[in-house]
Amino acid sequence: MTIGIEMGQTRQGTVATLDLEELLSTRLLVQGNSGSGKSHLLRRLLEQSAPWVQQVVVDPEGDFVTLAERHGHLVIDAADHSEATLVRVADRVRRHRVSVVLNLDSVEVEAQLRCAAAFLGGLFDADRDAWSPVMVVVDEAQLFAPAMAGEASDEARRASLAAMTNLMCRGRKRGLAGVIATQRLAKLAKNVAAEASNFMMGRTFLDIDMARAADLLGMERRQAETFRDLERGHFVALGPALSRRPLAIQIGGVETASRSAGPQLVPPPAPASAEATREMILNSAEPEVARPAPRRAPRPPPSDIMMQLAQYQPPALHRSQAEAVELTAEQSEARQRQLDLILRQVLAGEDAAFRQASMLYQDFLVRLRIQEIEGPPDLAAFRRMLATARAGIAPEVAEGEAWQAVLARAEALPEDAQGVYLLLARTAMEGLPCPSDATLARAYGSHSLGRARRLLAWMEEQKAIVCRTERGGRRVVALVGLGWETAGGDPDGPVQDSVAA
Ligand SMILES: Nc1ncnc2c1ncn2[C@@H]1O[C@H](COP(=O)(O)OP(=O)(O)OP(=O)(O)O)[C@@H](O)[C@H]1O
Ligand SMILES: [Mg+2]
Repeated sequence: MTIGIEMGQTRQGTVATLDLEELLSTRLLVQGNSGSGKSHLLRRLLEQSAPWVQQVVVDPEGDFVTLAERHGHLVIDAADHSEATLVRVADRVRRHRVSVVLNLDSVEVEAQLRCAAAFLGGLFDADRDAWSPVMVVVDEAQLFAPAMAGEASDEARRASLAAMTNLMCRGRKRGLAGVIATQRLAKLAKNVAAEASNFMMGRTFLDIDMARAADLLGMERRQAETFRDLERGHFVALGPALSRRPLAIQIGGVETASRSAGPQLVPPPAPASAEATREMILNSAEPEVARPAPRRAPRPPPSDIMMQLAQYQPPALHRSQAEAVELTAEQSEARQRQLDLILRQVLAGEDAAFRQASMLYQDFLVRLRIQEIEGPPDLAAFRRMLATARAGIAPEVAEGEAWQAVLARAEALPEDAQGVYLLLARTAMEGLPCPSDATLARAYGSHSLGRARRLLAWMEEQKAIVCRTERGGRRVVALVGLGWETAGGDPDGPVQDSVAA
């Protein structure tokens, strides 16, 4: 029996179907930036397949509890149960073949990981006679299977990563079919992503995610560039349950509403004075504007924690404290100078501007060893030094309050956008002309001017910056919330070596 689930329409207007049986043995990975329509896609899949297969939804945002009314899913609120209970509940869910939504909305990040691990573990460890097929949908899968250590304790993270790995790598024999969605492939553990044979890729902005997507799909990077321009609700599908060749699909409608319904029109408040508005938007003290919109559930900070920089300390000092080795202020300053010098040597290397931080870090470590400098900064600390150095910031300035505010805002952006943001901030802080596209591309680690321009447009969309053009075509960039703006600069100018480190 083949069951074709109607997912939506192809460009030719034909029905795009998903082979449910095939999906159960080959799993699905959905990727797309925030707002690309992943949760909508999952909801469509769940609704259409509800009559055919048992479903378990791991729901970090409480988005899917509305499936209960129409399709009879049992909602399990994680906050009401201990982990041990959740293991037992999961076992019963399998035995009785009940479709459920595990709502993790009301518990803290770390408890979300623990509860998901317990529940998935219970599903996985069910007795053999209960191994009938279950579609296990995990939204925001990067929370549960992060590529890098995040804020949650190691133990919780390991438990949920192990459960996700079991689901995706070893679940098939036990009837578990993983369907996972993530905003950013680069943030999802590789082994978890690699076990899906079906993919649906939505709008993807960052190069690093695009590259991962291209690798997974076995596509040319250039072909994957098309993911950048996908509209909301449009996905490229590939895999045995979907299509043998990349197929563009527009996902169809849904019957139940998302609890987190999209933005609703609200009339703006009566205008305040221009001065007050300017103060509020450009000079607020709190770095709230560039951050992602607040969510109901507490969100983990970006896993790379490139900067826990509200309390930034020079890496050397940080390190010495961790090891309880007391360095005098003079010693630590001297050490910091040494590190800065070596970093500069690393950056002077050919093509250093286009090499990844992790590669440069290797180079940096070798040089430290040669110079017999002990207790090297870790990769996260190195990335901070690198971003600051690439932005051309002098070490004295880097520790100042103004720059700390910049770093706190940069933290809200994806790692590979931070260098460009810092460069713009420094240029603005010093009142210099806005860097050219070529200079920005270099800070982005790319040769492509188009990428640099798209990154600017994207940062503007995120409300991190505002760009405007002066007479004569010169570009000015203002930093939202910091109240600084660059002087007018020629976007088409050459690489400014004095600006980009
Ligand atoms: N195919 C579609 N047709 C109609 N509306 C859609 C479609 N896809 C998404 N939407 C709407 O767009 C908005 C964003 O979609 P959705 O919540 O699914 O995004 P998302 O990718 O899950 O984002 P996030 O990563 O932030 O959770 C929602 O209001 C949703 O209803
Ligand atoms: Mg979503």
